[in-house]
Formats: sequence, C-alpha cells, structure tokens
Amino acid sequence: MKNPYWNRTMIREPKDFFGREKEIKKIFAALGASHPQNISIMGERKIGKSSLLYYIFQSNTEKQELPHPKKYIFAFVDFQEHPDITVDEFFEMLYSELKNKLPERIKIEQVKNYKTFTNMVKTLDDLGYKLILLLDEFDKILQNKNFKVDFFSYLRSTANRYDFALIISTQKNLEDLYRKDLLGSPFFNIFTQIHLGLFQKEEALNLITGPSAEEDIPFEEDTEFILKNAGLFPFFIQILCHELFEYKKNHNKTIGQEGYNEVLEKFWVEADPHFFHFWKSLSQEEKEVLFEIATENKVKNGKKSVIRYLKQKGYVTTVSGRNRIFSDTFKQFILDHQEEVTDIGEIKGKPPTTVWDILTYLVLISIIALLGVSSYLTLPRPQGITLGLTAAMMIGMILLLLLRRGR
Ligand SMILES: Nc1ncnc2c1ncn2[C@@H]1O[C@H](COP(=O)(O)OP(=O)(O)OP(=O)(O)O)[C@@H](O)[C@H]1O
Ligand SMILES: [Mg+2]
Repeated sequence: MKNPYWNRTMIREPKDFFGREKEIKKIFAALGASHPQNISIMGERKIGKSSLLYYIFQSNTEKQELPHPKKYIFAFVDFQEHPDITVDEFFEMLYSELKNKLPERIKIEQVKNYKTFTNMVKTLDDLGYKLILLLDEFDKILQNKNFKVDFFSYLRSTANRYDFALIISTQKNLEDLYRKDLLGSPFFNIFTQIHLGLFQKEEALNLITGPSAEEDIPFEEDTEFILKNAGLFPFFIQILCHELFEYKKNHNKTIGQEGYNEVLEKFWVEADPHFFHFWKSLSQEEKEVLFEIATENKVKNGKKSVIRYLKQKGYVTTVSGRNRIFSDTFKQFILDHQEEVTDIGEIKGKPPTTVWDILTYLVLISIIALLGVSSYLTLPRPQGITLGLTAAMMIGMILLLLLRRGR
C-alpha cells in the first residue's frame, strides 16, 4: 500500500490532478475562440495554480475538443527559479521549451531576441498554428527590473496581431503588481482573470475518497473529519489525507478518536508554517476581520470588500449563508494569535486615547483633588499636604492600573 497523498509541489501527472472542471472549461473555451484569448490565473499561495497550468499543458483529453487540436502548440515555463533573467534569456528559455514541439518540416531560426521571436510567431501564424505560452509565477517577471514597459507592450501587440496567447499565473492581483513605470500600461487589459480558490465539495470528496480507495484504505467514513480540519483547500486535504493514510496503514485500516487526535498532531507540524506564512502576508485589517469571523462575532459594517477578498484567497467560505474560516485548524490558528491581533491593533491601528481613557483620567484627577483637599483640611499644614497628596497619588495609580487591566 503506497501512500497516494505525497504531493506537495505542482502536480505533474494528470491522473493525480483532481477537480477544477469549471476553470479548465473556461480556459479551453478561451483557447478555442477564433483568435485564442489570454487568461490570467490568480490565486493564493499553494492553492493549486501551477498544477492547473501544468494540467492544461499536459492533458490531452480537453485538447482534442479544440477546433483543430493539431494546430495548437503549447509551451510551459516556470519563472520561480529565474527571478533575474534578462529579456533575451527569456526568449531563449521559451525557445528551448518549444523547439521539440515545433512541426519538423518548418524551418525556424533559433530564437534569442524580439526580432527572432517575432519571426517565429509570424511563421507559425502564416501556417495556421496557434502558439500558447503558459507562464507560471509571472509575478517574478513583473518584479524583474530587466523587463521594462516596452517588453509588455511588445507581448500585448504580438498577442493582438498573431494567433498567439498567454496563460499566466500570479499570486497577486495584476493591479497589485503594477510597477510605477507600468502604470497605465494596456498590457493588463488583455487578460480574462480567473480567481483560483477553494475546491467545490464534490471535488474535495473525489480527492479524499478516490486515491485512498485505489490503495485499498477507504476514507469514506473519515470525510467529515477531513473536511472539518482541512476544509476545501486541496493542499491541506493532501497533508491530512497523507497522515490519515499512514495511521490506518499501521492500524489494520481502522481509527478511533485517539487516532484522529494523533493524526491531527502530525498534520499541525506540517501545516503550521504554511498558516504562519498566510498570516504574515495579511494586513492588520484582514487579520481583524478573520478574528471576528473566527469568534463568530458580527463583522463591522464597511468590511464587505475585505471579506470578499478573503473569500477570493480561500481563507473564508460561506456555510449556510454565514461566513466561516475555511477549516477548524486555521480557525484555531487565528484564535491562538488573538493577542497579536489586539496588540498590533493598539500600536498601529487604534488611537492611544479614547473617550473612555479621558473619562477615566478625569475621575482619577477628581479623586486625587478631593483626597488632597480633605487631608489638607483635617491635618496640620505641612504633613497634611504631603500625606494627602501621596495617598491620593497612590490610590489613583492603583485605580488606574485596575481599570486598565479590567478592559
Ligand atoms: N487539482 C489538484 N488536485 C490535487 N491536488 C492538488 C490540486 N491542486 C493543488 N493540489 C495540492 O496542492 C499542492 C500545491 O499545488 P501547487 O503547487 O499547484 O500550488 P501553487 O498555487 O502553484 O503553489 P505556490 O504558490 O507555492 O506556487 C499540490 O502539491 C497538491 O498537493
Ligand atoms: Mg506554483
């Protein structure tokens, strides 16, 4: 029995890829248009962007549905490991990915710059071929200063002019990736955006029950446990299923409450750094909204756009019309960081003085004054003033401390 839930990086085998039917359909519809359309896939860290892009690149089933499947040429390039490449190196990389896929009878000179790339695209276009470039982690290109505004204008005009389309993936919204020099660049208008979020329930169930059943350790009775603790986030489903599979393999395919607890402990070891990474990338406002949702408090009015953004990212989901954190484990993580939310809130967000503070100080000053005056009246002069003021200040400080602690 081999654990089928080992995947932690991009899924390479179509048989290991689950769900995303809606997105795949949309992408192939865009590619099948008379002039192939450009798509940008935007999604949170680990949501499954590279896996989807690679599936489009690899899978044959959907390609057969395209108008003239043989006329499509696909190339996949990942920029993760090339954060500092130059424009010419970019074209060289594309060419090395493409050269084995080009029809043999066509003679195309080696691509190494704008000019030779245009020549290739033009030749392919003249012969009725459609070139589709799948560019993973396009954020890296947008952050790379070697790529100036003319590069993006070039890509745009080439995509408009020839049967050539881009499918890019980014972690941030394209608008959030704008660089000053790209402000107003029409490059970003050429894309139809797809937000990649959580799985649908059906897709998650297929991932949970399919591979486990094939290895003869069925998970049918564990689906509730998995959905509760990993939610519909494919990456966390894989991690939890992995631990569950190991446990059941070593315990005659059975599990009880103690076993579930043990599996969860192991899940936390792997999931915690990822939760932490999510947490670090959130704004203070997003953290506060997540905290409100985790504690089932009413989120303040005017936070609708924050909630919408958190849903897009996959951190929040809707259950029976109510906002919920995507999994019980991430909810626990948020609750465990409660102090951080309030601490940072005090330093960064809220003003240090509130109406409540002012009232408290006024009350304390009155007490001090009253005590001072009364002791001044009842005791001989010099001792009366000193004693009265010292007592008043001490009582005042104790009261101030007690009042602040109680809030
Ligand atoms: N469609 C899917 N079917 C099965 N598992 C998936 C799928 N999508 C994502 N996963 C799981 O999530 C993991 C991360 O996927 P992937 O690397 O594609 O995400 P990503 O969004 O590209 O991540 P990063 O932000 O690190 O680039 C995979 O290793 C796999 O375990
Ligand atoms: Mg990726």
